[in-house]
Amino acid sequence: MTLTERDHQHIWHPYTQQHGAKPPVPIISAKGSYLYDEQDRRYIDAVSSWWVIIHGHSHPYIVEKVTAQLRKLDQVIFAGFTHEPAIELGEKLLSILPANQQKVFYTDNGSTAIEVALKMCLQYWFNKGIKRKKVITFFNGYHGDTFGAMSVSGRNAWTAPFDSFLFEVIFIDTPTPSNIESLKDVISENAHDLACFIYEPLVQGSAGMLMYGALELDELMAHCRINNVLMIQDEVFTGFGRTGTNFATDHLITKPDLMCFSKGLTGGTMPLGITTCTTDIHQAFLSENKLKTLFHGHSFTANPLACAAALASIELLLRDTTQLSIKNISHRHAAFALKIQKHPKVKEVRQTGTILAIEWETGSGTSYFSELRNVLYDFFLEKGILMRPLGNVIYILPPYCISNDDLTYIYDQIKNALEIFPAGGGNGK
Ligand SMILES: Cc1ncc(COP(=O)(O)O)c(C=O)c1O
Repeated sequence: MTLTERDHQHIWHPYTQQHGAKPPVPIISAKGSYLYDEQDRRYIDAVSSWWVIIHGHSHPYIVEKVTAQLRKLDQVIFAGFTHEPAIELGEKLLSILPANQQKVFYTDNGSTAIEVALKMCLQYWFNKGIKRKKVITFFNGYHGDTFGAMSVSGRNAWTAPFDSFLFEVIFIDTPTPSNIESLKDVISENAHDLACFIYEPLVQGSAGMLMYGALELDELMAHCRINNVLMIQDEVFTGFGRTGTNFATDHLITKPDLMCFSKGLTGGTMPLGITTCTTDIHQAFLSENKLKTLFHGHSFTANPLACAAALASIELLLRDTTQLSIKNISHRHAAFALKIQKHPKVKEVRQTGTILAIEWETGSGTSYFSELRNVLYDFFLEKGILMRPLGNVIYILPPYCISNDDLTYIYDQIKNALEIFPAGGGNGK
């Protein structure tokens, strides 16, 4: 049996309606920006394999560090025990985060980093004996697939079967110069009951790379601070260079109380999540009273291999060459965006740092279920490019090691697609 046939027998793939789905492409190996299939066909990984691979696949430095770690210490329970990779990673990460971030809690993916942040905020108020139980967040947000993370995410087709099980939150629009005052009013009116505000800074990734301004976010955050509303900044996607700076927080003056990381944290090589917080949050859990403990932990909390990968990845991120590549991709994206923004089939081009999104004019609005999605997905795959359009929004966020030639090739294929496919989908024959 082929790999595809064996896959079909037993494997259930994420975010995939398997009825009538095309068989998945078996990938045998990956190097740098490329994935290779069974026939040794090459695909440019234009979406960094679900936004995680920031330095390219199988980066030799990460491979070396993880291999050495595997020989030394593979895994150890993280309650009652500790280890150097976790300590060093905590120190390293905090050294490049805002100074108010002082404590590091390990989990193993983005959703669990969010769960921990939410629990920290809700229990912070519980431990202090203050009734603040509500969460405020943006419409269209996405913070993960566990129940807490789903509760604070936008309600849509993904959450529909579970909506009645999700806790209630207050939804507001993302800020603009014209609505900012009304958003601040909502916060003031509910402040007495608000435990925290959770948000994707600058870019709402899964919603279709929707972008909004740093100035307005800053103003909203400052207002939360005045009203004692704790802020959870979800940098699971935006962290580690994606927005052109190391973190989205580097675009902002006001600093959050908690931050969540995953995806690019390990350079995408291993699952790892981190929630950081201020000393103030941490102190609310220190007590003679055992009931004030944060009762949360996962079997693989602070796995040493993942920590070693993250340390190596952060070292790579801080290298001048990587910082230059991030700038180069950002500049080239901006130049390409200018070139195509007036194209009749382009509804909008959005760009922040290394993230470029193009919203296709469909004539019938924007939808995750747009027919155009599969047509474009197949087109780019045929051209040797892995893209994963969010409905009628295509986006590129490549590994930072991508060559100029490969970027040009991707841009050229996008221009081609714009000529071939009519607005509204179809195969454009
Ligand atoms: C902003 C944001 N938060 C959280 C998550 C959840 O991360 P994970 O898929 O690792 O659970 C994602 C995943 O796409 C994300 O984009």
